[in-house]
Amino acid sequence: MLLFAASLSVWAQSRPALPPPTAAGFWNAAGEFAGASKCAACHPQQAAKFVGNSMSRALEPVSNCKILAGNVHFTFRDAPYSYEIRRVGDNVLYRVTGAGETMEAPLLYAFGQGKAGQTYVFQVDGQFYESRVSYYAKLGGLDLTVGAMNASPSSLLVAAGRVMSGNEPRNCFGCHTTGARVGGTLQLAHFETGVQCESCHGPGAAHVAAATSGKALAGTIRPLKAMAPQESGEFCGACHRTWETVMLMGIKGINNARFPAYRLANSACFSLDDARISCTVCHDPHGALVEDDRYYDSKCAACHNKGNAALKKQLCPVGKERCTSCHMQRVEPAEAHHAFPDHWIRVVRSKSDYPN
Ligand code: HEC
Ligand code: HEC
Ligand code: HEC
Ligand code: HEC
Ligand code: HEC
Ligand code: HEC
Ligand code: HEC
Repeated sequence: MLLFAASLSVWAQSRPALPPPTAAGFWNAAGEFAGASKCAACHPQQAAKFVGNSMSRALEPVSNCKILAGNVHFTFRDAPYSYEIRRVGDNVLYRVTGAGETMEAPLLYAFGQGKAGQTYVFQVDGQFYESRVSYYAKLGGLDLTVGAMNASPSSLLVAAGRVMSGNEPRNCFGCHTTGARVGGTLQLAHFETGVQCESCHGPGAAHVAAATSGKALAGTIRPLKAMAPQESGEFCGACHRTWETVMLMGIKGINNARFPAYRLANSACFSLDDARISCTVCHDPHGALVEDDRYYDSKCAACHNKGNAALKKQLCPVGKERCTSCHMQRVEPAEAHHAFPDHWIRVVRSKSDYPN
């Protein structure tokens, strides 16, 4: 898995000024987890807001998944295979039929709260599989999972899903749950679904114990405050992918609009240590994503204002508000059925103008 391997040669060639990444240590924080309900008791403000953040529902057990609620019945056909997802009592069954054969398995986990899409994980003979079909909000139903387009399945099982091999289950659950990944291993005995408090702040049992008994709190929890752009890119990038991860994956074209840290770092606006362009300036890590372009105008104006003599391009000759509507183009990879905002802030000359 390339995710945590920083290739210093690639790094050095393109961005000599950057210090080494820190994302490698993300899942290695030592300590016991307390659980988000504990945190909520003393930090009600963050907890109340976080319910509205899609990260909190980045993975749902099938039993209480919103999209699979009620008498759900989805069908899809990719000849010669037919797909069906339907609820039977407490289970949601996944049935695939083709060439006279049928297989059926209960879905176990729903990955993604479904803003763009939702992909299902099931098990056959102790092995995890990613469903070959996913739910897409824009379609209100199923289509092929991103990446499943290119191959024609060699058997019914391959038509049902892609086997999650090697470290893949660990990595998927690591980014979409809290506590299922501990360092290098996957443990599914007890974890919280979705990205919860301790995904970001690290295991907090020691912090809770200290706070409960009135002891000193310093050093008991990751404060994460006032991260510089470089730092937030590495930190949020542990899941959203860092600049160097995307370089190493070599994903070209609009498919890399999914990776904000990479796109933003390539923008002329980005500076390693100017706190005005950190992820957390535009995104409250606890709050819901703000979908009103006007909200971001003040973030641009922090640098793009008449008084800022350090800038060559202080003001816009075209627009006075809703800056991000023009300078953060929405791009839609066909198979994703979702338009991602391009974090490479720039003047967009045409629809096909998309620098890598
Ligand atoms: C018994 C009460 C209590 C519980 C439970 C608790 N905290 Fe805290 N926490 C505090 C107090 C008190 C402070 C210090 C004052 C403040 O910033 O609110 C603090 C500070 C923090 C800070 C800021 C640290 C800093 O250095 O600035 C973070 C982050 C935090 N807590 C996260 C958590 C998380 C995550 C959990 C759940 C695992 C949690 N807390 C559970 C009482 C608690
Ligand atoms: C532990 C992994 C993890 C970390 C760390 C993480 N994210 Fe996320 N984030 C996710 C996942 C997974 C989703 C997709 C949730 C979904 O839609 O199901 C997401 C979604 C989001 C969204 C989209 C919200 C929406 O409603 O569309 C924003 C914005 C976001 N993250 C910002 C951040 C920022 C800023 C940081 C750093 C402070 C960060 N994330 C750190 C995993 C993570
Ligand atoms: C390195 C961390 C990471 C890994 C590994 C990972 N994801 Fe994600 N996933 C994210 C982040 C961050 C997002 C939100 C941004 C986006 O949509 O690309 C996301 C988004 C998604 C979405 C869309 C969510 C929505 O609400 O629209 C689905 C579905 C999904 N992931 C499924 C999976 C599956 C299945 C696996 C394993 C086969 C997996 N992911 C592995 C981090 C990860
Ligand atoms: C996606 C990552 C992420 C998640 C999940 C998350 N936090 Fe935070 N938290 C942050 C960041 C980043 C900061 C620093 C914000 C800043 O720069 O002021 C922070 C700051 C804090 C603080 C310090 C007070 C403040 O606002 O500065 C507390 C307390 C806190 N978080 C509690 C929680 C609790 C409780 C939860 C779960 C409900 C939670 N956090 C979930 C990233 C996260
Ligand atoms: C200058 C402001 C700005 C900065 C800095 C910024 N973003 Fe964003 N981000 C936006 C805007 C604007 C949107 C689109 C909001 C909407 O949907 O209308 C967005 C959307 C997102 C989304 C949701 C994408 C989707 O599928 O809809 C994610 C995830 C995200 N940002 C992550 C990050 C991360 C991680 C960083 C740091 C590397 C970051 N952002 C830095 C402005 C910013
Ligand atoms: C941290 C300061 C900072 C922030 C915040 C910032 N920019 Fe910039 N921006 C710059 C710098 C520096 C340049 C490079 C040119 C210069 O020196 O004037 C630039 C250049 C640009 C350019 C020209 C890009 C090119 O490739 O020629 C556009 C367009 C732009 N910014 C729009 C925005 C918008 C829109 C926002 C808010 C979403 C924003 N900027 C936020 C600092 C910033
Ligand atoms: C309606 C679309 C639109 C909106 C809204 C918009 N811009 Fe622009 N902006 C453009 C275009 C097009 C150009 C290129 C103009 C040219 O080169 O002739 C541009 C150029 C720029 C430049 C580069 C100026 C230069 O001298 O090369 C900056 C910086 C900039 N915009 C920032 C902003 C900021 C900040 C906002 C919000 C206050 C904003 N823009 C709103 C379309 C827009």
